[in-house]
Amino acid sequence: MTASIANLPGVATIARAEIKSLATYVPPRLLTNADLEKLVDTSDEWILQRTGIRERHIVDPGVATSDLAKEAAVEAIRRAGLTPADIDLIIVGTVTPDMLFPSTACLVQHKIAAHRAWGFDLSAACSAFTYSLTVGSQMIAAHAAKYVLVIGADVMSSIIDYTDRSTCVLFGDGAGAVVVSPSTDNCGLIDFAHEVDGGRGPALCMPAGGSLRPASHETVDQRLHYVKQDGGTVFKFAVKKTEEICARVMERNHVTPADIDLFVSHQANRRIIMSAAERLGLSPEKVVINIENYGNTTAGTIPLALADAVADGRLKKGNLVLLASVGAGFTVGSVLLRWSI
Ligand code: ACO
Repeated sequence: MTASIANLPGVATIARAEIKSLATYVPPRLLTNADLEKLVDTSDEWILQRTGIRERHIVDPGVATSDLAKEAAVEAIRRAGLTPADIDLIIVGTVTPDMLFPSTACLVQHKIAAHRAWGFDLSAACSAFTYSLTVGSQMIAAHAAKYVLVIGADVMSSIIDYTDRSTCVLFGDGAGAVVVSPSTDNCGLIDFAHEVDGGRGPALCMPAGGSLRPASHETVDQRLHYVKQDGGTVFKFAVKKTEEICARVMERNHVTPADIDLFVSHQANRRIIMSAAERLGLSPEKVVINIENYGNTTAGTIPLALADAVADGRLKKGNLVLLASVGAGFTVGSVLLRWSI
């Protein structure tokens, strides 16, 4: 399904939403390619060449997604010049909730003392941040909320099999949070598009732990509580769909590659990002890649990439930014926005 803010029928007073602040958090502990060489039959050279990853951050035992989310959220609220009591709604995009229920949004609401906020988790795997940003922005557009805390956070190390070299080299833990609020100028979200291709779910999934295969000795013995993926299928789909969804958003907003200041894609693999950018006609200097230092943090990658671009001076107020994501489901998303901070 796709939608354009500008085309929503019958709504006269839509408010444009903007990102008012951004903050991120990664746990201090590093897992380097050299560390992984000691766990599985792999090499720094293979990992770097095939994925672009050098190191990733992972949590210590007992640290959960809500802990990373809290750190990012508290700082994002502070940077917005707000207090937790100002937040109306919390959306946590995650595929690694602390537990199946209550939702991680409820846990974060309590941890940051956002007494007035309601909230929920959004499950879209690596597309969770683009999906959550879209949903949050639409709550602003509908005047249903003034301040929405959108968080992308995952502790992928909790569902990674560190005996499986085809997956364990890819992922890391991390979180990012943005406060979304009504735009005060011409900046903010311009358009978005999202898709689902549910038929391809088996290519990337965690088979057990849900209602289909509840945890049992058998599921644990078969290592079914870990990420399983057909890497090649995911790779091809990601390149094709990143290009398609971004091209659609660009075309219908009459945006050319030259107009885009920064392309911030989900960070799954350097080669996926660069191939998609090339197909879109986006020159390499417009592409943000920080997978080297974080790996694939699933819902955390886009805010982590945005934050690094801000820190490097590459992302400034008024820049036209194209976000893109592809993830398990399969889920697909793109958001076009004019950077607002
Ligand atoms: N170290 C060394 N060798 C490895 C490793 C490893 N960590 N992993 C796989 N290999 C081997 C394979 O066994 C294979 O050996 P073989 O030829 O003897 O059979 C060889 O390397 C090539 O394997 P391929 O799977 O063909 O390697 P490819 O170049 O496709 O890279 C990768 C694999 C990195 C997983 C790639 O397919 C990929 O990134 N896919 C996307 C997956 C992804 O990012 N998923 C995350 C979530 S979804 C998303 O975020 C979009």
